[in-house]
Amino acid sequence: MSSYLPPPGTSDIFPDEIPRWNFIESIARKTFSLYGYGEIRTPVFEYSEVFKKSIGQETEVVQKEMYSFEDRGGRELTLRPEGTAGVMRALMETDAPNGVETRVWYLGPMFRGERPAAGRKRQFHQVGVENVGKTSPEHDVESISMLMHFLEELKISDSKLLINTRGAQEDKVPAEKALRDYFSSHIDKMCKDCKERFNKNIWRILDCKMPECQESIRLSPDVKDFFTTSSKDYFKKVTELLTKQGISYEIDNRLVRGLDYYQHTVFEVTHSGLGAQNAIAGGGRYSIAVPGSSKSISGVGFAAGVERLIMVQDSLNAKLPILKDDFIFIASLGENAREKNFLLASELRKNGLNVLMELEARSMKAQMRSADKDHVSKVLIRGDDEISKNTVIIKDMKSGNQTEVAYSEIVKYLKLS
Ligand code: HAM
Repeated sequence: MSSYLPPPGTSDIFPDEIPRWNFIESIARKTFSLYGYGEIRTPVFEYSEVFKKSIGQETEVVQKEMYSFEDRGGRELTLRPEGTAGVMRALMETDAPNGVETRVWYLGPMFRGERPAAGRKRQFHQVGVENVGKTSPEHDVESISMLMHFLEELKISDSKLLINTRGAQEDKVPAEKALRDYFSSHIDKMCKDCKERFNKNIWRILDCKMPECQESIRLSPDVKDFFTTSSKDYFKKVTELLTKQGISYEIDNRLVRGLDYYQHTVFEVTHSGLGAQNAIAGGGRYSIAVPGSSKSISGVGFAAGVERLIMVQDSLNAKLPILKDDFIFIASLGENAREKNFLLASELRKNGLNVLMELEARSMKAQMRSADKDHVSKVLIRGDDEISKNTVIIKDMKSGNQTEVAYSEIVKYLKLS
């Protein structure tokens, strides 16, 4: 390590960027609570088994991207590559596996050892939701509808909602057979990854982006044709309800999603304001088996990438209602005043006012320059003269007007002006 830069695919987030993150977090909290979701915080690392069992051994995430390590106690652990698996492990301690509807949301860092690119990071942040315990097209549609509401509140317009279905457990065998029958005569001319997927995870061939695979994928059968009537009806109901809700969507027969826990509805929201990594959010209905339990737990949910949400807001030049804190600057004339002003700053802060102050001896001109640079609304000026009169001069930086206020009246004056 020879540089002060953080490791590839990670970023430092500086104070001037934080209001954007706080805005997304506050909209998440506000929007999701309208639908009865409560916040959950689970560990950043879990037993590796939690991810292997739920995301699926044959997925790219588990095969190639997990940050796994053995701790000093010999435990096999992994930094979470996504939020759903850990949340399901946590909810096994509740009534959710017994069918009691449970609604939770979360926000935090996730880790995937992917090749870094614009919008693709090794440490990124997701805001996600899970509605666990009940299975119905209504639950799926409410989750999608909440995602679109969330994006609207974030001032993200012009996004595209893609939906599809992975069918139920019993649809897997006939669907995979149909894919294998078809791709067996195409796989020779397809990419190296697809050849591997053909044996290990045939569904993933469908969302391969390599040019040499596109023609074969385009002509492949739609797996939905091999699903049971009840699975087809489930999906039909989802699309009908979306239409009734006035939510525009596109059915994408090739949308399979990269995590193996999905069943029935899957969806993704893309945006043209992003480059090749164009998904801002993804989700669907799932059934997850948690290590140490014979029960599986099912639900519906989604996660959005916070870095990507910010990128889209930037590309849209979105007008975000982010208020900057109003600051007061205290300027001191002389050593004695500076010591007394130190106390004044503490007093004002204890009264809930944001205060900046020059702690070292500097000229009045230099202090006014700092106040200007910090875009403060008012400067309080106090030297020996004001101290002897028990007053403070208050300069309004917008109008340039100056007023002399009695020391005992400062808090009242500042709060009212
Ligand atoms: P996912 O599609 O793997 O789904 O990730 C969701 C979102 O996280 C993506 O749409 C993207 O915005 C963001 N994201 C993923 N990988 C990266 C990366 N390397 N860099 C930056 N952003 C990234 C899930 O993780 C599921 N747990 C979602 C879910 C919740 N399904 C049901 N419930």
